[in-house]
Amino acid sequence: MQHFHRLRIVDWEDEASALRMIRTAVFIHEQRVPEELEWDEFDIISTHVLAFNADGQPVGTVRLLPDGHIGRMAVLKEWRGIGIGRAMMLKVLEEVSNRGIPKAILNAQTAAVRFYEKFGFQAHGKEFMDAGIPHVKMILQR
Ligand SMILES: CC(C)(COP(=O)(O)OP(=O)(O)OC[C@H]1O[C@@H](n2cnc3c(N)ncnc32)[C@H](O)[C@@H]1OP(=O)(O)O)[C@@H](O)C(=O)NCCC(=O)NCCS
Repeated sequence: MQHFHRLRIVDWEDEASALRMIRTAVFIHEQRVPEELEWDEFDIISTHVLAFNADGQPVGTVRLLPDGHIGRMAVLKEWRGIGIGRAMMLKVLEEVSNRGIPKAILNAQTAAVRFYEKFGFQAHGKEFMDAGIPHVKMILQR
């Protein structure tokens, strides 16, 4: 397995099929998130990071809303654990910084809290359920 990967910042309308493919595999199939909850009105207004493997295949994504909300962070199962999630997170935080957004906010699956803590996010408030999965709000103050 080659570890080289490349990141691109894309709009929904230009890369919808790749973004849909990754999120369908990870959220709808793997995590059993209901399809009607996965797709919302925010994709069209978000900036999306798309990660490609050495063969140019899309393997990961995350989105940033104009208000600083980060979400839909997903790496295809067979491509995890080699730094793609980290690289995408650094890219999206660079975008937050470039835009002068004062704080980044996300709803983390509790299983992913330690992943986000590595970037300085801190949990706020109580755990809650969303799409049948326990979550906690996390904030990164710049
Ligand atoms: C969470 C996710 C995006 C991480 O992507 P990844 O490419 O495997 O992460 P990386 O390889 O870049 O890991 C970066 C660091 O975070 C750690 N890490 C990765 N996933 C983690 C997790 N779930 N919990 C705690 N730490 C984690 C890694 O060990 C690594 O630590 P290190 O730098 O100290 O070695 C990926 O596991 C995923 O898509 N999961 C399913 C979807 C999901 O749960 N998304 C989050 C929704 S809130």
